[in-house]
Amino acid sequence: MPIEEILARYLPEEAGMQKTVLEAMNYSVTAGGKRIRPRMMEAAYRLFGGRGPEIEPFMAALEMIHSYSLVHDDLPAMDNDTLRRGKPTTWSAYGEAMGILAGDALLTYAFETCAKAFAQTEHPERVGRSMGILAEKAGISGMVGGQAVDVELTGQPVSREQLDFIYRLKTGALLEAALMIGAVLAGATEGQVRQMEQIAADIGMAFQIQDDILDVTSTQEELGKPIGSDERNQKTTYVTLEGLDAARAEVRRLSERAIASLETLPGDSTFFREFIRKLETRSH
Ligand code: IPE
Ligand code: IPE
Ligand code: MG
Ligand code: MG
Ligand code: MG
Repeated sequence: MPIEEILARYLPEEAGMQKTVLEAMNYSVTAGGKRIRPRMMEAAYRLFGGRGPEIEPFMAALEMIHSYSLVHDDLPAMDNDTLRRGKPTTWSAYGEAMGILAGDALLTYAFETCAKAFAQTEHPERVGRSMGILAEKAGISGMVGGQAVDVELTGQPVSREQLDFIYRLKTGALLEAALMIGAVLAGATEGQVRQMEQIAADIGMAFQIQDDILDVTSTQEELGKPIGSDERNQKTTYVTLEGLDAARAEVRRLSERAIASLETLPGDSTFFREFIRKLETRSH
């Protein structure tokens, strides 16, 4: 089933006294987005021969968590951005308090959603483990941890080591969750799950460096979000630290390393290879 249909199936109904926050949740998720995390999760599941329906609630859950991370990332207290996915950011459309609550609600609803996989699987232990991975990669050892260090070091000199740490967590971790959960649900071995984690770490690092590049080289129309956000917020990025040419070279190097590792796995990695190459040259 296409990802947009999966999302539509699992997003909450906009009804009840708390209707406004439900609208804000759905607004942020349905505003658009490339959906790369659920797509990669599904690709990982297929790579290891997964065929069941239990991947679908996890795909929806991961995109909910990603959308929540963007809703909060755009808040005035964080990057203070007013455009996302070509539309006003959730807080600028619904107010700051609703932006905070919609983010909280999406995060919690993600776990309510993926818990539904227990009723759709022959392998409840894989579902349980996948929920644990999702929590770890979303939370303090993952995305939230990276965002916290990003915020704390804003406006200060940042070393390459600190920047790598931030990127691995704030952006890499949700991609790691995507590839690991796809592998776990399909019954991959422990070694294969670890290998997928490393591949995703490379893809995530390349993805964030490309995001930094686009923040200086693209246009608002193309990106659907403001350009120059990093400079305005005095962020040290891969581009400010190493320059555009080195940033581009690093995106290539990491992408090729991820592809080379994928090709040592059993299964047909053609889809993955093409996906990574597309990300490498993406313009939005
Ligand atoms: C944006 O992610 C935030 C980063 C981690 C760089 P995406 O570029 O995947 O955003 P959408 O989902 O397509 O809007
Ligand atoms: C990644 O960093 C954000 C998250 C992990 C949520 P950015 O702040 O660069 O992301 P964009 O550019 O606003 O999408
Ligand atoms: Mg940010
Ligand atoms: Mg931002
Ligand atoms: Mg950015």
